[in-house]
Amino acid sequence: MNSASPTLEVLFTPADFSILPQRDLSQAFCVVFDVLRATTSMVTALANGAKSILPVSEIPQALLLARANPGALLAGERDGLRIRAAQTGGVDFDFGNSPREFTAERVRGKTIVMTTTNGTRALQSCKHASRVFACSFLNLKATVAAVQASAAQQLIVICAGTFEEAAYEDTLAAGALCDSVWTMFGAGATDAAHVAREIYLDGQGDLLKAFQHSRNARRLLGRSELSADVPFCAQRDTVDLVAELKKGAVQRV
Ligand code: MLT
Repeated sequence: MNSASPTLEVLFTPADFSILPQRDLSQAFCVVFDVLRATTSMVTALANGAKSILPVSEIPQALLLARANPGALLAGERDGLRIRAAQTGGVDFDFGNSPREFTAERVRGKTIVMTTTNGTRALQSCKHASRVFACSFLNLKATVAAVQASAAQQLIVICAGTFEEAAYEDTLAAGALCDSVWTMFGAGATDAAHVAREIYLDGQGDLLKAFQHSRNARRLLGRSELSADVPFCAQRDTVDLVAELKKGAVQRV
């Protein structure tokens, strides 16, 4: 790695991103991917007119935040399914974590408090960075343009993963982002960034086919009511918006 070049890292697992709170990220741009499905749902909700998404790690935090924001809606999943009254002490969440639920009719003008297994905690882990973007295949091009327009010297791509493991679809998306900014950042790329990029170069011709390597995709495809989420999340550059975490809220910028 050339130390004069801007640096590019990819973090594959929760173990990797869980140490970010101890790192100085004051100069870092972070891009968080939870392709299946948290960041795809956030981007979809914003594209359909939601005011902001407040991502939190735990259910009790989500309930407190919703109480503090009258009119806010609750979204999220555990084990892929919408959070129900039995898990919260009486409150049924308004949405699960399917991006197809976040329609304009339901989200326009709304604040949404969201807690998911990995995606929201990945965003929490880097919230002290200079800038934090929530990204998906849907808004990859727009996010790349925002990174390219900046003078970022340190780019960290964070894959939310599945449970405690790396997720194929997040690695694929991280690789797509790395490939798009390679001219700027390639000389300062870590081995992990090279690995992600190679996986993307191998799978780019058919993203949906590449998703077959994903444990989470197989899990969703096995549930009839959620299976359509997989092709939805494999759509590329359908949404021209940048989603940024600022002061605890993911917003359109
Ligand atoms: C997560 O945050 O772990 C995921 O988005 C899980 C999912 O709902 O597929």
